[in-house]
Amino acid sequence: MTTATRKIPPLRLWFPEEDRKEIHQRIERCLAEGQVAQGSNVREFEERFAEYCGCRYALAVSSGGAALEVAMWALDVRGKEVLVPTNTFLATAAAVLLAGGQVKLVDIDPRTAAPNLDILRRSVSSRTAGVIMVHIGGIISPEIEAIRDWCSSRGLWLFEDCAHAHGSELNGKRAGTFGIGGAYSFFSTKVMTCGEGGMVVSDDQSLAKKVALLRNYGKPEPWVTYSTELGANWRLNELAAAVGVVQLKRLDEMIRWREGIAALYTSRLQSLEGVQPILPHGRSSWYKYIILLPQGVDREKFKGAAKERGVAFAGGVYDLPLHRQPVFAGTPPDHFQGAEEFCSRHVCLPIYYGMTREEAEYVVEVLRAIL
Ligand SMILES: Cc1ncc(COP(=O)(O)O)c(C=O)c1O
Repeated sequence: MTTATRKIPPLRLWFPEEDRKEIHQRIERCLAEGQVAQGSNVREFEERFAEYCGCRYALAVSSGGAALEVAMWALDVRGKEVLVPTNTFLATAAAVLLAGGQVKLVDIDPRTAAPNLDILRRSVSSRTAGVIMVHIGGIISPEIEAIRDWCSSRGLWLFEDCAHAHGSELNGKRAGTFGIGGAYSFFSTKVMTCGEGGMVVSDDQSLAKKVALLRNYGKPEPWVTYSTELGANWRLNELAAAVGVVQLKRLDEMIRWREGIAALYTSRLQSLEGVQPILPHGRSSWYKYIILLPQGVDREKFKGAAKERGVAFAGGVYDLPLHRQPVFAGTPPDHFQGAEEFCSRHVCLPIYYGMTREEAEYVVEVLRAIL
């Protein structure tokens, strides 16, 4: 057994000192003013996030899952079918089900980790109301605009799960702005975080109004106990929003850092036969750097060998697609060949803000030694 000389985790959180100071100041102000909910930090976070995404509305909520669920309620999926890629986190499908809709899991193209137009054409039915696309690892499908046009031509909405895609772009448009709206997560593993939090983005006024209403118990006036709709508490708290504003200011720098690590990986991997990186067509957030291992490599053995050398190839997206999760037991697996291939063959290379080039070189060295 090899003894690991160093340890490279799959991710590491780094808040620069300057940011920590600003967060402290913002929180100190909230406490001094006694405004710990629905105050100026939430408003500023929403305004800055809408501007960053290039859309009219951004509504802060308590998590990425909440963003998806409140959007599905606002789109009124009750009794309707929604196409959801099988290669996603449960939250995407759960949002549809919790809002009273039906989920139809669809396959992905292993080259982009997302459904393509052919797959969607094969999967759509007369009961379909919309499609959710998930930008896996930060990669926006090169077909997203064609998919949006196809959705429009059939009277379907397109919604984006942008939990991995802060700052991701294609043809000059940011994630969340291709269809009727998008949902972001600020969970602690994401490209930017406020601990727990989420955001719904949209250009659609009626969707935004509905989300604003539903996230706050259906109350048209936030502080008046008078509800016109069945809603719940999906609000983001003021203290988390203070962290969110500061992280958002740092976002482009954090993505540039990740881009530097990704570029190093891409250049080094060229000499590794059979290793296939999944690369973006526009700008990725580089939430993950995904590769497909050469055919025939046993992934679990590979991961074990890497761990012995101190490198964690963890946090796959996703090792077990939804149709293989017990919660979706009964879904026949033979419809998902693309997902079967992608999910069983891919691994994610460690990548995070603050990772050094030397650490990335070590990851490549370990990959080379094992393969
Ligand atoms: C693709 C995807 N959608 C939704 C979510 C849910 O986000 P949250 O954990 O903030 O509820 C996550 C992550 O955790 C995710 O990876």
